[in-house]
Amino acid sequence: MAILSKVAGVAVAAFVSAVSAQSFQRLGTCPTLGMADFLAGQYFDIRLEVHAPKNGSEAIGLPPDEAFTFTIAKGDGVAKPVTEFFGIEDAKLEDWTFSYFEGLDFFARDAKTPSLVDVRSKAYRRLALHEPGEYTATLNYNNGSSTKATWLVRDLAEERKAKNIILFIGDGMTTNMITAARLIGHKTINGKYQTRMQMDKFPVLGHQMTHSIDSFITDSANSASALYTGHKSSVNALGVYADSSKDPFDDPKVETIAEIFHRLTGGHVGIVSTAFLADATPAGLTAHTRARSEYGAVVDSFLNGITNYTWTEWDGPDVLFGGGAEQFYSPELGGITYQNKTYYDEFAKKGYQVLQNRTALLSAPSNEKALGVFTYSNMAKWLDRNVYRENLNQSLSPTGDKTAALDQPGLKDMTLKAIDILSERSGDKGFFLMSEAASIDKMMHVLDYDRALGELLELDDTIKATVNKLNETGCLKETLILVTADHGHGFDVMGSVDTKYLAAQDDQRKKRNAIGTYQNSGLSQYQNTGNLTYVDSNFPRNWDPRYTLFSGLTANPDHRENYTVHKDGPREPAAELEEGSKDFHTNPEDAENGIEINGNLPVSNDQGVHSLTDVPVFAMGPCQDKFSGVYNSIDIFFSMAECFGLARGKGHSAGN
Ligand SMILES: *[C@@H]1O[C@H](CO)[C@@H](O)[C@H](O)[C@H]1NC(C)=O
Ligand SMILES: *[C@@H]1O[C@H](CO)[C@@H](O)[C@H](O)[C@H]1NC(C)=O
Ligand SMILES: *[C@@H]1O[C@H](CO)[C@@H](O)[C@H](O)[C@H]1NC(C)=O
Ligand SMILES: *[C@@H]1O[C@H](CO)[C@@H](O)[C@H](O)[C@H]1NC(C)=O
Ligand SMILES: *[C@@H]1O[C@H](CO)[C@@H](O)[C@H](O)[C@H]1NC(C)=O
Ligand SMILES: *[C@@H]1O[C@H](CO)[C@@H](O)[C@H](O)[C@H]1NC(C)=O
Ligand SMILES: *[C@@H]1O[C@H](CO)[C@@H](O)[C@H](O)[C@H]1NC(C)=O
Ligand SMILES: *[C@@H]1O[C@H](CO)[C@@H](O)[C@H](O)[C@H]1NC(C)=O
Ligand SMILES: *[C@@H]1O[C@H](CO)[C@@H](O)[C@H](O)[C@H]1NC(C)=O
Ligand SMILES: [Zn+2]
Repeated sequence: MAILSKVAGVAVAAFVSAVSAQSFQRLGTCPTLGMADFLAGQYFDIRLEVHAPKNGSEAIGLPPDEAFTFTIAKGDGVAKPVTEFFGIEDAKLEDWTFSYFEGLDFFARDAKTPSLVDVRSKAYRRLALHEPGEYTATLNYNNGSSTKATWLVRDLAEERKAKNIILFIGDGMTTNMITAARLIGHKTINGKYQTRMQMDKFPVLGHQMTHSIDSFITDSANSASALYTGHKSSVNALGVYADSSKDPFDDPKVETIAEIFHRLTGGHVGIVSTAFLADATPAGLTAHTRARSEYGAVVDSFLNGITNYTWTEWDGPDVLFGGGAEQFYSPELGGITYQNKTYYDEFAKKGYQVLQNRTALLSAPSNEKALGVFTYSNMAKWLDRNVYRENLNQSLSPTGDKTAALDQPGLKDMTLKAIDILSERSGDKGFFLMSEAASIDKMMHVLDYDRALGELLELDDTIKATVNKLNETGCLKETLILVTADHGHGFDVMGSVDTKYLAAQDDQRKKRNAIGTYQNSGLSQYQNTGNLTYVDSNFPRNWDPRYTLFSGLTANPDHRENYTVHKDGPREPAAELEEGSKDFHTNPEDAENGIEINGNLPVSNDQGVHSLTDVPVFAMGPCQDKFSGVYNSIDIFFSMAECFGLARGKGHSAGN
């Protein structure tokens, strides 16, 4: 068997076909299947890796090739060495080893026998392709072997059509969840909704496919990378193609929509999330690492951009609002920060006002940059901020003083303030705002459907307030508003549950008779019971009716369902019987009197997981038609970039 090569980065990438079935985790981005699309003028790095497996089924007993070469040809043109093509110096040869499990070999995993690979590698950094069209990148290695990738620089219109883009991401949000949220938040008469969700009023609906580069299920990191960079990536990777080196920061990077927009137009950027700010969806706009868990460095990247590499000028977003104070406050208070710095101070030194509660947020001036960190970890959920407020004491203060965070804003407060600041500060330059309802996903993970749907309804309420605000200020026509998700969860509603009947049965099989399907599902009790004078039609009138939704996920740990709202705070469906065993069973304290549901995930899972489904894309504003139909997640990046007029090809062409 031949020595295998890998060109990661925006590169070639992939397998030599004979071994593809067993080696995809070693060669995530693969040359023979390798295709990458680029925005003209977008910065990217190239990482070349030549692999020599030392043991395992692919061992070849030869040292790795150190004399590999790499060429690029435009169209049918002559292939030029990479150094000549880009007018750059050759890169230094790097070497390392890594081990991996061949393909999905779970037997090898159990036996703990990974295969070892010797690597020789070079990286070329901060390159750009300007001329639209096809390019062929060829890695020649191993005395005559070669592997090719096709790169396509998309031919996009360069005229700017939108002044602003607001990208709402409902993390983990599917059409099924939107349908369920509509059912509990809006009233029907004779099968017709009397009010509509704001998303439902968007003129254009599309569908995006979320697959990552080397697995068909994504996490929020690689899906954020696809949405923000136009390049698919791997699980846990942010703004890079994952390489096999030890350093999680040296992976080949691709420039994000926020970075390109800011670099080329001077436009302003805002980032809002209900998650801890270092979490993947906010992080993906500025971080470049294959390890999303490098939280401290992620926070540093918001402020300082890429560290240790020459890249792009970045002077921080105008707005950064969310949770995750532990990456900001001093290590003396227990903060876990990059290089032990206090990031409240680092941001303040660069001219940010620092906001730590809702009162301060609402009264903050709109002409200054703002960092708003409102809790330790993820922010409190809509249900706990609005209905079961006594649970707010489960959140910790953003100051690090271990008191409760009782005065937290919601997504709507944060998003509207972000728009005020961005509008005022960006002037004619326009802005890009990403606003994430993060806990749709987080609550689906813990099977807390009520909280997840509350977050979804809050997202919709936020979109409604945003549309109204932009309409009032005359900015609606110049702003593209997108609402989408990064992946789904296998959630749906199959009927209703008589919770009183269910609780009254002792027998597990009898409890199941509490479930009403088809005609026995009846109508939603979330609108027809409770305080009928309650006028805010965006949310349920009653979160705790007798007849609730019969809902659930298709992949679970062992758990119980009693189908009533968890009034004491977010749920913990599964627990270890023995601490540290990683053997999760039904949490004996969760969902009393419920139906026992056998898990189907590996027993080390205490939560549900993401699923394959396509996710919806709602669009309104300039370029809205680009978002109709069925397409790939990366197309959202290209359509946003085109709408902002960010392609720098043809006229702008700078060499090659
Ligand atoms: C390969 O070598 C490494 C290091 O010596 C060892 O840990 C590993 O078990 C070996 N794998 C196989 C498949 O033999
Ligand atoms: C390539 O050729 C050199 C010189 O003939 C030889 O030493 C080396 O082992 C060859 N490598 C492979 C992988 O065949
Ligand atoms: C940057 O380089 C310094 C010094 O080598 C190192 O300590 C730090 O971890 C690096 N940071 C990143 C984000 O790569
Ligand atoms: C940060 O603080 C920890 C604990 O005091 C220490 O071990 C570590 O070396 C410090 N890191 C830096 C970069 O100063
Ligand atoms: C909110 O923040 C302001 C400004 O930092 C502070 O003065 C005030 O005490 C805070 N309020 C609460 C309830 O923590
Ligand atoms: C929160 O408050 C409730 C009642 O007000 C109390 O029972 C509970 O122990 C408190 N929890 C925490 C974490 O302080
Ligand atoms: C914008 O406001 C106008 C005037 O109040 C109204 O007629 C129109 O429907 C609003 N547009 C949207 C999209 O809400
Ligand atoms: C019912 O809702 C209305 C309107 O929101 C409110 O004024 C009233 O106090 C509520 N009544 C009860 C019993 O909660
Ligand atoms: C269902 O479980 C929740 C959370 O454990 C609990 O608060 C509630 O009382 C239970 N409902 C019934 C009907 O037993
Ligand atoms: Zn998730």
